[in-house]
Amino acid sequence: MGHVPVLLEEVIEALQPRDGETYVDGTFGGGGYALRVLQAANCTLYGVDRDLDAIERAEELAAEEPRLIPLMGRFGDLEPLLLNAGLRAVHGIMLDIGVSSFQIDQGERGFSFMRDGPLDMRMGQSGPSAADVINSLSEPDLAAIIRQLGEERQARRIAKTLVERRLSQPFSTTLDLAETIEQAVGGRRGKKTHPATLTFQAVRMFVNDELGELARGLAAAERMLAPGGRLVVVTFHSLEDRLVKRFLRERSGETGGGSRYLPERDKGPEATFTLPRRKAIEPSEAEIAANPRARSARLRVGVRTEAPIWDKDVDSGMRLPSLSDVEIAA
Ligand SMILES: C[S@@+](CC[C@H](N)C(=O)[O-])C[C@H]1O[C@@H](n2cnc3c(N)ncnc32)[C@H](O)[C@@H]1O
Repeated sequence: MGHVPVLLEEVIEALQPRDGETYVDGTFGGGGYALRVLQAANCTLYGVDRDLDAIERAEELAAEEPRLIPLMGRFGDLEPLLLNAGLRAVHGIMLDIGVSSFQIDQGERGFSFMRDGPLDMRMGQSGPSAADVINSLSEPDLAAIIRQLGEERQARRIAKTLVERRLSQPFSTTLDLAETIEQAVGGRRGKKTHPATLTFQAVRMFVNDELGELARGLAAAERMLAPGGRLVVVTFHSLEDRLVKRFLRERSGETGGGSRYLPERDKGPEATFTLPRRKAIEPSEAEIAANPRARSARLRVGVRTEAPIWDKDVDSGMRLPSLSDVEIAA
């Protein structure tokens, strides 16, 4: 089964693709957004993804559609990726954060607690896997990840159970992890969602450094968008939406520097974005009914001004262990 793009028409309306311009889809996935942009205007589209499977899909499509140019890499590295491709600025950047249905549906990628497979969860094909994380980090580090990225209230109990269990047998499969978590929290107790949902989400976000990538991707968009260029971001998680909202409010001068209401001496750098709308765009009831995965989607859009980039990193707001602390099993 393919990936059903979420908020597709809203994304196109926010991006406003035009003939002759160049756009970037930083999360190509199944190409749903990318193909719709190419249909909406006679433009060029760079399709970026860190997942080799997605890039292979993009290459198949590009064989028929020369205006699509696949680029393998992370959107956190968008600036070097685009510069290497010979681009100094683009007219629009889309990010559709998270995993694709292709990734979830393939048991062997290890993203799903409903399909047995190796405990992997890497969107790219390098770095530590979910098994490496669960089998090597300390109990407080695991608890911090599960608590902060999963907002799981039983994080400490789950981390303790995982560390005790791995002494006798390290984790290697998704169903083993899901069942151990279920036992740790005392079964399902009539809940609609599986007790491992939040832990799986947290470990996936950690393994792929998803908030760090988003923070770097937003900063890269500020650098690579031409004046008038549009940044369109769709998130599925409140931690991510909060980061996008804070970034756009700050860089549009609503918080911190840039406000025109402050006395001259208190003014920060000039705003690098304007916000066509302050509030996030949400999916319609009809879209949620047709595609329940759309339920938590939020779309935000910013339009790049001519102001110079801010010399300031975007803080993901998390204080987590480092991926480099994870021991990779031989
Ligand atoms: C939700 S899907 C995108 C679906 C796409 N909009 C469509 O319509 O088919 C997210 C995709 O982004 C990719 N991805 C996630 N984080 C990434 C990152 N930091 N850099 C590049 N690709 C990333 C994933 O591998 C996945 O293929």
